[in-house]
Amino acid sequence: MSFTLPELPYAYDALAPYMSRETLEYHHDKHHLAYVNNGNNLLKGTEFEGKTLEEIVVGSFGKNAPLFNNAGQHYNHLHFWNWMKPNGGGAIPGEIEKKIIEDIGSVDKFKEDFIAAGVGQFGSGWAWLALKDGKLVVLKSPNGENPLVQGATPILGVDVWEHSYYIDYRNRRPDYLKAFVDHLVNWDYVAELYSKAV
Ligand SMILES: [Fe+2]
Repeated sequence: MSFTLPELPYAYDALAPYMSRETLEYHHDKHHLAYVNNGNNLLKGTEFEGKTLEEIVVGSFGKNAPLFNNAGQHYNHLHFWNWMKPNGGGAIPGEIEKKIIEDIGSVDKFKEDFIAAGVGQFGSGWAWLALKDGKLVVLKSPNGENPLVQGATPILGVDVWEHSYYIDYRNRRPDYLKAFVDHLVNWDYVAELYSKAV
């Protein structure tokens, strides 16, 4: 398969004031597009042509760094746009809430750990809620990596590359992460990925 840039699932100004039109224009139209274009060029002539995106991400990890970086970031951003929605955050669907409490302790503990993972990721990367060996865990990863290469299935992720927050929050990554958790998370999409993963 070749990579294609999806449309955003909402208007560019729909996530304001928590994520601005300008951020989404740069992040989606320039950064994500670059991963798509570079990924397609790097895919040509490799053993990964014709594979699914997940197979390319897992298969290229540790073997073909330039392809992995771009394919990983394409995968991460495809989901990232859907992990947000206008008027997001709020109530967590019952089934996931129950599982978060069971595996992590409480919803507050999950939020605290998830924000801490994002703050604690040195440099560029991502923070995650993922299903690993049947349990929900909070993870972090550098650059374009994601839980797929750690043997886990991502069900929520937040981009902590500076391109994701610097226009709106400057260096205040913790404020961006708090706004993401409280006002942007699309729990319906998280629930959809969770039910596919179990
Ligand atoms: Fe990004």
